[in-house]
Amino acid sequence: MKKLGLLTSGGDAPGMNAAIRSIVMSCNSIGVSCIGFVRGFNGLLENNYIELDDHKVKHISQLGGTILKTARCKKFLDPQYQKIAADNLTRLQLDGLFIIGGDGSFRGAVALNQHIDMPFIGIPATIDNDISSCDFTLGFQTAVQTATEAIDKIRDTADAHERLFIVEVMGRDSGNIAIEVGLATEAEQIICPEFKCSPSSVVTDVLTHIRLYLQHMGHASYIIVMAEHTFKDMPSDLLAKKLEQALGIECRAVVLGHMQRGGAPVSQDRLLGSKLGHYAVRCMVSGVTNKMVGELQGTLVNCDISTTITGTKTINPELLEIYKTQSI
Ligand code: F6P
Repeated sequence: MKKLGLLTSGGDAPGMNAAIRSIVMSCNSIGVSCIGFVRGFNGLLENNYIELDDHKVKHISQLGGTILKTARCKKFLDPQYQKIAADNLTRLQLDGLFIIGGDGSFRGAVALNQHIDMPFIGIPATIDNDISSCDFTLGFQTAVQTATEAIDKIRDTADAHERLFIVEVMGRDSGNIAIEVGLATEAEQIICPEFKCSPSSVVTDVLTHIRLYLQHMGHASYIIVMAEHTFKDMPSDLLAKKLEQALGIECRAVVLGHMQRGGAPVSQDRLLGSKLGHYAVRCMVSGVTNKMVGELQGTLVNCDISTTITGTKTINPELLEIYKTQSI
């Protein structure tokens, strides 16, 4: 192998830079050169790439975002554009490609593979932690820490005013961020898609717990951590309004939003990026192809990329058990 390519795609995730650095450094150590495509799959379409060497990747592990930029590339759903990308890759005479991103990015890699027989390896990176066959995706642990710190601050003002707060966290269709953040901040209630709450009875169900809790605790703050997209017709601000009307207690909604994707990666995400990048290079040079690398129960593994696209990741049952047992 002489030359490998890499790209970051989809929503950025803290830890992507550590993975980039690790791939480049590991490649350099065995005399393989690297190029990084800019803005995800757009870079393949536009032949937009930069040469990556040890100078370019020095001291980037502590940076949020991705030095290669990222994007969601709608065009890439169209086979006509996939073919353009494949032709560009053929001209570049690359020996393989690393895709750092989430399940949508892996779908892009599988589609590309229909047009070119080039080995690729996926590295799971999304704050949502919604990819099966790995314990954590890059960025998840930083996002949990960021949201936890934000909710700790909200708790101070909620306590001072004895108010209710609904804090909406990201996760796309997954409650993994919500459950971890909810437990870490001792949220009084967690709402996420996996709980399968009925949209028609959500207000009544949520109210039942709040009333019981306030009866037991007296005047107190009450925080609900709610995963985005849990209810199509009941966003957090509408739910807050309905609770305020029903209880006569001030209720505020806070959407944490994209701040959860930013900031310096926590050490776990930097280390995970380093491990996965290095392992991905080892796999690539030893002939492992079209796999996703991940850490599963503390061990580095590679698995068929198609299982990560079709599989679903369930919420950690131990965390669910704690939530159910300790909820007042
Ligand atoms: O997939 C990561 C994520 O941050 C999700 O949690 C969220 O739903 C989505 O991306 C937001 O995407 P965008 O940045 O395109 O608004």
